Amino acid sequence: MQQNKNNNTPKTQNSIRTVLVTGGAGYIGSHTVLELLNANYNVIVVDNLSNSSKESINRVEQITDKKITFYNENVANQNALDNIFASHPQIDNVIHFAGYKAVGESVAKPFMYYQNNIGTTLSLIASMKKHNVKNIVFSSSATVYGLPTACPLTEDMSTSALNPYGNTKKIIEEIFIDEATADSTFNVALLRYFNPVGAHHSGLIGEDPRGIPNNLMPFVTKVAVGKLERLNVFGNDYDTPDGTAIRDYIHVVDLALGHLSALEKLYSGNCGVVTYNIGTGKGSSVMDVINAFIKATGVDVPYIFAPRRAGDAPVCYASVQKAKKELNYTAARTLQQMCLDHYIWQKNNPNGYEE
Ligand code: WQD
Repeated sequence: MQQNKNNNTPKTQNSIRTVLVTGGAGYIGSHTVLELLNANYNVIVVDNLSNSSKESINRVEQITDKKITFYNENVANQNALDNIFASHPQIDNVIHFAGYKAVGESVAKPFMYYQNNIGTTLSLIASMKKHNVKNIVFSSSATVYGLPTACPLTEDMSTSALNPYGNTKKIIEEIFIDEATADSTFNVALLRYFNPVGAHHSGLIGEDPRGIPNNLMPFVTKVAVGKLERLNVFGNDYDTPDGTAIRDYIHVVDLALGHLSALEKLYSGNCGVVTYNIGTGKGSSVMDVINAFIKATGVDVPYIFAPRRAGDAPVCYASVQKAKKELNYTAARTLQQMCLDHYIWQKNNPNGYEE
């Protein structure tokens, strides 16, 4: 058994890596679990299904023909976590997705967001310390950059919060940084996602927002399949080439693969805290998305121009040089592929995972 540089011999004797994934039934979580299984990881998922469906787990097992050990538990329940870690001593890494993620809801219900997102994280860290698990990948967000003043955004730029959701991500990053500073054997990869869209090419798993979608792509696909009448384009008077706001959309499968690249970094030995933007490095406007969607699917998307949405940034896209250099990671899928895959999922599942 080859030892890591820091003599941090992986816990598993048969060199099969075992990862605990919190929130692994969710949109990004389920896609990441699928890629972990494809890469021959043992995967244990903890998810209380408060904003996801067990069906996603069933379908990932169907796609990969592999089994997932699943616990329907709240990550804030430390006793439950302790029992899981004790039952699976071979866990040597954690990916932490579990958390609420709706910006608007966080403004209306800040306490619920602080209690849940930070509470689950503190419970998880406590259990990891108790069971000597030293590596974690955290699902952070480009929202920690606040209102971008200059793009592309680089990881050394200052962080700020525009809303309680973004503030929970910023605070959790700081908790991990302080913990890793105090404990040099604790290793953390903070992944700042830009705009995840798309779905696995099978069309069996995908984004399943509750109610009317807040985000652009699920709204577009619901219009395309006739579940919604038309898209409101929030603002066409921005200082951008076509007047609509620009974002860095990344295919959710590319995002999932970014987690595997981050795991390799953690398994390579003591890296302390490492922070990476996970995006494409390319900005696309709302109109770019609409046009790419129509070109990719052949389906029209009726839309009207509506007033700007409060809090929206005109432009937000990533510098991806650090992940490319340090993780040898680059997102590969095009905007048209993102549109087509998201549409196929929505067409196959007009009501998401519900029966
Ligand atoms: C993208 C663009 C809208 C809907 C949010 C969170 C962020 C992250 C990703 C969690 C914007 C426009 C949207 C619509 C529109 N989530 N739009 N009509 O706001 O960039 O980021 O989701 O980590 O934290 O803030 O994504 O998809 O909501 O909007 O015109 O019906 O599409 O104005 O320019 P956003 P989005």
